[in-house]
Amino acid sequence: MFASVFSGGVVRRAVDKGLMEVRVHDLRDYTHDRHRQVDDRPFGGLEGMVFKPEPVFRAVEAVRGSSPARVILLSPQGRKLDSRLAGEIAGYSRAILICGRYEGVDERVVTSLVDEEVSIGDYVLTGGELAAVVVVDAVSRFLPGVVGREESVRHDSFAEGRLDFPQYTRPRDFRGMKVPQVLFSGDHAKIGRWRMKKALEKTLAGRPDLLDRILSPEEQEILEEIRKERKEQ
Ligand code: 6GU
Repeated sequence: MFASVFSGGVVRRAVDKGLMEVRVHDLRDYTHDRHRQVDDRPFGGLEGMVFKPEPVFRAVEAVRGSSPARVILLSPQGRKLDSRLAGEIAGYSRAILICGRYEGVDERVVTSLVDEEVSIGDYVLTGGELAAVVVVDAVSRFLPGVVGREESVRHDSFAEGRLDFPQYTRPRDFRGMKVPQVLFSGDHAKIGRWRMKKALEKTLAGRPDLLDRILSPEEQEILEEIRKERKEQ
């Protein structure tokens, strides 16, 4: 599950360039019993299995060693991952991500070992592994040098609180669908304004909540224009 993502693509390249380091540890290596059991039945009954505290504490303590690391538990109860949180995690010199499984993790792990809980969205995965992969991928883009230009992160959708404007490449005419004329105008101010307008239209249609923030005068003006056009239709 981890190799499928970390042995290729952007993360692999970043690791090869020495920009980040990713290690995967097996919780079972920190058990002492013959069955290498990491989970047990919950006190108080009910279904399912819960992660035992001992292997998790042992694993984190062994992996952490003597240098500090932020301990993050991936769980649906956590703070929801967004661009801001990914940027914050990228600011830590080291993070240990614990992938929860089964029905949960012994609460003493949460209260005494974990610094913060992170969720990747309001749905339940069968385990935290995929969530950890998502976190590593999203965080990697905030590490200096990982994506081409610093700018491509800054100008990304979400960083600026709106969705991306539409992009086109060749051919100019694909099955009768033409690339908007403005993109050939060479007028960069005009293209910039067109892009901002398209981005705002998309955001208004798909994620209006993103516009609950302070808008620049130019954004306000373009939004006004969009609203007026809608009324005229
Ligand atoms: Cl981090 N873990 C699990 N098991 N389910 C999730 C999640 C995490 N984030 C959203 N759903």
